[in-house]
Amino acid sequence: MAANTIDHNRTRQNFEGIDSVWLFGYGSLIYKVDFPFLEQKPATIRGWARRFWQGSHDHRGTPEAPGRVVTLIEQPGAVCKGMAFRVAPSVFEHLDVREKNGYLRFSTTMTFDDGGQAEGLVYIATEDNEAFLGEAPPADIARQIAQALGPSGPNTDYLLRLAESLRELGDQCDHTFAIESCLKEQLSSER
Ligand code: SIN
Repeated sequence: MAANTIDHNRTRQNFEGIDSVWLFGYGSLIYKVDFPFLEQKPATIRGWARRFWQGSHDHRGTPEAPGRVVTLIEQPGAVCKGMAFRVAPSVFEHLDVREKNGYLRFSTTMTFDDGGQAEGLVYIATEDNEAFLGEAPPADIARQIAQALGPSGPNTDYLLRLAESLRELGDQCDHTFAIESCLKEQLSSER
């Protein structure tokens, strides 16, 4: 699949006659809310696990030295916690550009912390996209993140802010926290 998903996403869902859509955010969409929303609620989705397996050439790295950002990997029984936003369909014009490096919009069922469920959308970078990097040991992922820098800032900010947001949401994301502690160890041993 082509690296730039903007055109592909525009053909995926028909928003005609729809006033608002639920969007599930599990990565930077939790803490970098640069879009208007009508409502916001912590939520979970089932069967997906958050992983730092996607390369970032346009936000937290460059084509020569990609950073690592999160995507979702199918995993039966897994529960992924995040933040759900109810947005106007026009918001996807901005989000499709922001998430253009490999992410496609998929339909999902989300369960809100305050009870109830809704159908909505989630951006996922599947392994057939050109920027997909895949699995690596936490220490290697942390080393790559420590070195990467892109137009949206250092890759370390992405990891540290995500880890902090997940703690605030009460999510025990072992994968994210393992990479965070490797990064902190590496940074303190460099001093
Ligand atoms: C998301 O946050 O839901 C998608 C991945 C990202 O932009 O970090």
